[in-house]
Amino acid sequence: MTDVLTVHGGTPLHGQIRVRGAKNLVSKAMVATVLGDSPSRLYDVPRIRDVDIVRGLLELHGVRIAEGAEPGQLTFDPANVERANVDEINVHAGASRIPILLCGPLLHRIGHAFIPDLGGCNIGGRPIDFHLQALRDFGAIVEKTPTGMDITAPNGLHGTKLVLPYPSVGATEQILLTAVMADGITELRNAAVEPEIIDLICVLQKMGAIIKVHTDRIIEIEGVARLSGFAHRPIPDRIEAASWAAAALATRGNVYVQGARQVDMMTFLNVYRAVGGAFEVLDGGIRFWHPGGELRAVAIETDVHPGFMTDWQQPMVVALTQARGLSIVHETVYERRFGYTDALNTMGATIQMYRECLGGTPCRWGRRDFLHSAVIAGPAKLHAAELRIPDLRAGFSHFIAALAAEGTSTVYGVNLINRGYEDFGVKLAALGASVEPAA
Ligand code: EPZ
Repeated sequence: MTDVLTVHGGTPLHGQIRVRGAKNLVSKAMVATVLGDSPSRLYDVPRIRDVDIVRGLLELHGVRIAEGAEPGQLTFDPANVERANVDEINVHAGASRIPILLCGPLLHRIGHAFIPDLGGCNIGGRPIDFHLQALRDFGAIVEKTPTGMDITAPNGLHGTKLVLPYPSVGATEQILLTAVMADGITELRNAAVEPEIIDLICVLQKMGAIIKVHTDRIIEIEGVARLSGFAHRPIPDRIEAASWAAAALATRGNVYVQGARQVDMMTFLNVYRAVGGAFEVLDGGIRFWHPGGELRAVAIETDVHPGFMTDWQQPMVVALTQARGLSIVHETVYERRFGYTDALNTMGATIQMYRECLGGTPCRWGRRDFLHSAVIAGPAKLHAAELRIPDLRAGFSHFIAALAAEGTSTVYGVNLINRGYEDFGVKLAALGASVEPAA
């Protein structure tokens, strides 16, 4: 797909698209294949750049990956997992945050991991201190090198008791992927329990792992000596589903998201209804539409599951620019996830940012220098602009704004959206968006 698109706004999105396996599960399940002593099979793998990056990293480490019989099916043969060349790994430096999750599996398989400096969206500091502390607690030795980290475990990896300072998704996955084959029992407190994590636990259980998910964010893992391959159809991508749902609302359209699952999106659906959006849950997906009339302002706080996901925030804010009154959005997960609102303001939105916690829950970013609460005054008449896509979710939101706006916008850096949205251009066309490569 071309990187610069011309978007003729003002046409409601109408039609049907399908979401496949969740980006934030598929990439982790791919890493889990390294732990098996036989091949694994994943279905419904989306064609997105994050998948390509993990695929590249696994292949560098000797995992043989092949396309399967149905579209989106991949098989992984980890029989010859080996050390990869550091220079070749470094080609992936800065491209994604997934490489850090290879630590546990590589330590178990070959006793050594080299992790390049990490990338990912620029939405906050995104430290990895919880990951490194957990690895050290398991008995690993972590050494910083000029381009990454060298990790070894000369005395093996041993089960341990861990308490996360915050229920981090990535750190919980790190601990799961390490504990499943560590010697003894690991008890993790304050774990993240996002649906993608529960699905990763399902994958690991299929492989032979023993994992108990207790109430109150406590997970107990009994290490086992060997794990086998798995076959798994991942949960659908609830972030992509919500993005198209918000796009339907912002453009006054009607979109059937095939594959969307109610159970993973309950908090989103409550907000969607409160704003005045309509939806119908069907057997194979969810239909989302603007029922006419005015949308209503709401107050939202992003949070870890089962709260309102931080990744739902940006597309929903675009829809909130069309709601009557003052909406408040308090972002409690990332400290810098509102950078995209400047562009919306240049398009005619009125979004004021605050350093204070404008919500019921004082969060980690309050009383510090982070503009992490937004007040959105609407409805605003959006007009066309030149837009440069800053990161994945913000990029999708810029795009929705351009589709909702009056006039013709030019959007630069569209390929960034392909990191997490499969067939973005094809889906836009299927929904009747008036979009063409810029001249
Ligand atoms: C995952 O990121 C997702 N990425 C993110 O989706 C998502 O926004 C996030 O979880 C929250 O749901 C993937 O799954 C690849 P975290 P992750 O560790 O695991 C702090 C998208 O657009 N923290 O739960 O990196 C951190 O700074 C992406 O698809 C530490 O302080 O997120 C943040 O404030 C963007 N130290 C909070 O925890 C650590 O060592 C939550 O981060 C780790 C995290």
